[in-house]
Order: sequence, then structure tokens, then C-alpha cells
Amino acid sequence: MPFITFLSQFLKHPKNTGAVAPSSKRLAQKMAEAIDFEKARCIVELGAGTGSFTEEIIKRKKKHTKLILIEINEVFFKDLQKRYGGAPGVVVIHGSAETIQTYIKELNIEKVDFVLSGLPFTSLPAGVSSRILSNVMDALEENGKFITFQYSLVKKSFIQQFFQTINVKKVWLNFPPAYVFYCRKKNGRAENGAA
Ligand SMILES: C[S@@+](CC[C@H](N)C(=O)[O-])C[C@H]1O[C@@H](n2cnc3c(N)ncnc32)[C@H](O)[C@@H]1O
Repeated sequence: MPFITFLSQFLKHPKNTGAVAPSSKRLAQKMAEAIDFEKARCIVELGAGTGSFTEEIIKRKKKHTKLILIEINEVFFKDLQKRYGGAPGVVVIHGSAETIQTYIKELNIEKVDFVLSGLPFTSLPAGVSSRILSNVMDALEENGKFITFQYSLVKKSFIQQFFQTINVKKVWLNFPPAYVFYCRKKNGRAENGAA
């Protein structure tokens, strides 16, 4: 039961979990829309939790695409490993998004095309968020995209410091309603990520 697991982990680790319930299917679809699944060779998901976004990515991803899940919470990690560890091209890592570069290097991957994040930047310490975002920037290939969601726009200018362009869309069908941030490493049209 993702909802019960999620709530119990929120009660134990409120700042890292950052939400009382998993994201909705609608939010997952809006996040995944930004990915060009034909072209993606490597997608990284940060803070996969109970797998709301993972489900959507696995449904759409091509056989040739590698998907790396990085999750800091041991309970979530074990569950993700059980569910997706055996899926073709999927690697589940128990660790912090701060170390994204080390993980991809260990997998002999130089750069990644898309990074999807469920990380709660509003409740994470500023230093941790900065390290994550600057390492994500370095891990992304030149035309790479970073897609994240937040429940408010409080961290928009903070996140904006790291990317050339950032577009925001509100998704009402989520508890609570959320904003999806489509960020590009290089200048360009970030709307819906498809450009
Ligand atoms: C708001 S939840 C999102 C979960 C899921 N993506 C969703 O949308 O339902 C945040 C997730 O980020 C994870 N997390 C927090 N800090 C992290 C870090 N430094 N590295 C990796 N995962 C982290 C939490 O354990 C939790 O699973």
C-alpha cells in the first residue's frame, strides 16, 4: 500500500520525505511528458519514493534506455529494488542524489539526458539542495533537461540559479496541487520540455 508506507515514512523522516502522500498519476504524466523517450539513452530519477513517477517512466521507456533510480530512504529503496530491480535496463541505488555523478561514473555513463526529481527542496537543507543541483547540472549532457515538482514557488528562484531556462506548469490534480518545473541546461524553449 504506497499511501500507508509513504505516510509512515513521512512521520519518521518528515524533512526528507517532504510529503504525506505519493504523487498522483496526473502529476507523474506531466513530469514524464518532458522526456523524449525516443532519444533518451539514460534517465535518472531522484527520490523515487513509492514509484509514482517510476511507473510512468517504465511504461514509456524504450528497451535501449537505461533508468537509474536514486533513493535515500532504506524502506523505499528496498521496495523499489523488489519491484523494479529485475526490470531490463533499470538500476536501483540506495544513496543520496548529491552523489549522482559518482553513481553514473560507476555505471560507465558519462552524461545523462534527463533527470526527474521528486526531491523536497523546500524542506531539504540549502547546502544539500545546492550540492544536488550543481551535481545534476554537471551530470546532464548539453541539451539535457531537469524536471522537478514543488508544492509552492518558494524555491523557484533558488532552482533557477542553476539552469538557463525554467518553465513552470501547475497541476491541480494532485494532493496538494503542485508545480512542475521544466529546466534546461542550455538556452531554449523549456515549455513542456519537448523542445
Ligand atoms: C516528496 S517524496 C517524492 C516521492 C515520489 N517521487 C513521489 O512523487 O511520489 C521525496 C522523496 O525524496 C527522497 N529523498 C530525500 N532526500 C533525498 C536525497 N538526498 N537523495 C535521494 N532521495 C532523497 C525521499 O526519501 C522521498 O522518497
